[in-house]
Amino acid sequence: MSDVLAVDIWRGAENGQFQAFTLPRRQHQTVLDVVTEIQREHDSTLSYRFACRVGMCGSCAMVVNGRPRWTCRTRVNEVVSGDERLRLEPLRNFTVVKDLAVEMTQFFDKWKAAHGFFEPGTAPEQDFAVVPPQTKERQAADAGIECIGCGVCYSACDVVAWDRDYLGPAALNRAWTLVNDVRDRGQAERLKAVSHDNGCQACHTHMNCTNFCPKAIAPTYAIAGLKRVLFRRALRSA
Ligand code: SF4
Ligand code: SF4
Ligand code: FES
Repeated sequence: MSDVLAVDIWRGAENGQFQAFTLPRRQHQTVLDVVTEIQREHDSTLSYRFACRVGMCGSCAMVVNGRPRWTCRTRVNEVVSGDERLRLEPLRNFTVVKDLAVEMTQFFDKWKAAHGFFEPGTAPEQDFAVVPPQTKERQAADAGIECIGCGVCYSACDVVAWDRDYLGPAALNRAWTLVNDVRDRGQAERLKAVSHDNGCQACHTHMNCTNFCPKAIAPTYAIAGLKRVLFRRALRSA
């Protein structure tokens, strides 16, 4: 392993350029450690986001050597071998605010557009609901519930790149967890929200979202589940 790490970091907004830095290579350093060291020791104007540093908040995602990743849980040794350079860019499919920081508003607006929030109904239950862990619905909801909203899947999705109105894998995954929430009373609105042209039918099943999700969630299967439910409803109403 070389003692020195060469890093290229995107600077500026859409019309920016890469800036090169060199810093000591350490055995267990994460990509986020590298960015933090550059910001503290080399250029305090470097913009990026992080909060938890332990894979919980979802704020540190960037494109690392061409692939979107959470940077606090990505060690440099996993992505750079020998004398290779580390290349860091802001997430694709987002508007760049500055350097490695992107605007997340549209991403989270789409969760709302997909009706990705719990709907208790007009007469919510007064007692705790009992939802057995072994039921099919509970297992489907549990499979997608640990999403941290990092945007990696959205950045990796080619359909989002072609169609900025597509709801995208994270919002549709959230909708699927709620479709499987037996306590929820907003299913008709939710299924309507995900059934339009920019909803689940626009997914081309590329699997990029599923392959890149750092939490091992499979939005592709969640989206397939939504398609199945909509298909069955269409058959019933035909
Ligand atoms: S499976 Fe669908 S949502 Fe996931 S990356 Fe491919 S097109 Fe996008
Ligand atoms: S589904 Fe995975 S990649 Fe997408 S936002 Fe959630 S945690 Fe991140
Ligand atoms: S800093 Fe919170 S997930 Fe990386």
